Amino acid sequence: MQNVRTELRDGILFLTIDRPKVLNALNAATVEEIFHVFSTAHDDVTVKAVIVTGAGEKAFVAGADINELAQKTPVTGKETSERGQFILAFIEKFPKPVIAAINGFALGGGCELALACHIRIASDKAQIGLPEVTLGIIPGYGGTQRMARLLGSAKALELICTGDRIGAAEAERIGLVNKVVPADQLVAAAEEMARKIMSRGPLAIRAAIEAVNRGSEMPIREGEFLEATLFGLLCASEDTKEGMKAFLEKRPANFKGK
Ligand code: COA
Repeated sequence: MQNVRTELRDGILFLTIDRPKVLNALNAATVEEIFHVFSTAHDDVTVKAVIVTGAGEKAFVAGADINELAQKTPVTGKETSERGQFILAFIEKFPKPVIAAINGFALGGGCELALACHIRIASDKAQIGLPEVTLGIIPGYGGTQRMARLLGSAKALELICTGDRIGAAEAERIGLVNKVVPADQLVAAAEEMARKIMSRGPLAIRAAIEAVNRGSEMPIREGEFLEATLFGLLCASEDTKEGMKAFLEKRPANFKGK
């Protein structure tokens, strides 16, 4: 892999998009490398969480690579959009927590990548936006859909139609990021969040991700049915018994993911 770096540290897979000369812009090769990392990590029991960030001080990801975008035809443009949508949906559905550590510009495809992650923590230097309309296109990696579901259509349309970038504090205020921390504490904050989630029952985390993701696509009564079904399934797991037992015995639970 030439465009991303990975490091596995005590169960956390750190995935760093590493093309600093172009502010970590996503060319097709980088998008495929990101997919390769997530598909390999999917069934790797040593990976318990993923933290996605960008190399360097300046950018998380400054968007799709405009050099490549400029060559697209209607056919290849649609194919590119569909491939990106598929890969980001794979990240969104990932059964282990995925945290975006937004260390700088998260624009266009970078913002969309962060939106596909389960939790977003931003450095106080982060700048986030969907500037595609300034190039005469629209977000193509699920940004129109996820932004509107996250923020509501009015705020999403404001951001998408102006193409404006917003700072970290404003992003936190409107609920686009979960939390803002000083730049030098970003990785530590993402790691702290990942470790806290990793200490919980992994089957419960997997079910929670599935219930929230799938449920948001369903009428509420069907979402509740899904919730009850997953709840019931968890009651059959060793982890659930261990969690309750540990509470009653006043000790930390030792979850095994079974
Ligand atoms: N695709 C390809 N190259 C990109 C890029 C992208 N999305 N974003 C930045 N780069 C390149 C620049 O062309 C420049 O290359 P150069 O050094 O060969 O000239 C380099 O990265 C540094 O960017 P630069 O624009 O000089 O930095 P800046 O601090 O002045 O501005 C941004 C930073 C992020 C505001 C600006 O680079 C920008 O607007 N990028 C495009 C963002 C965008 O529209 N993304 C959505 C794409 S769909």
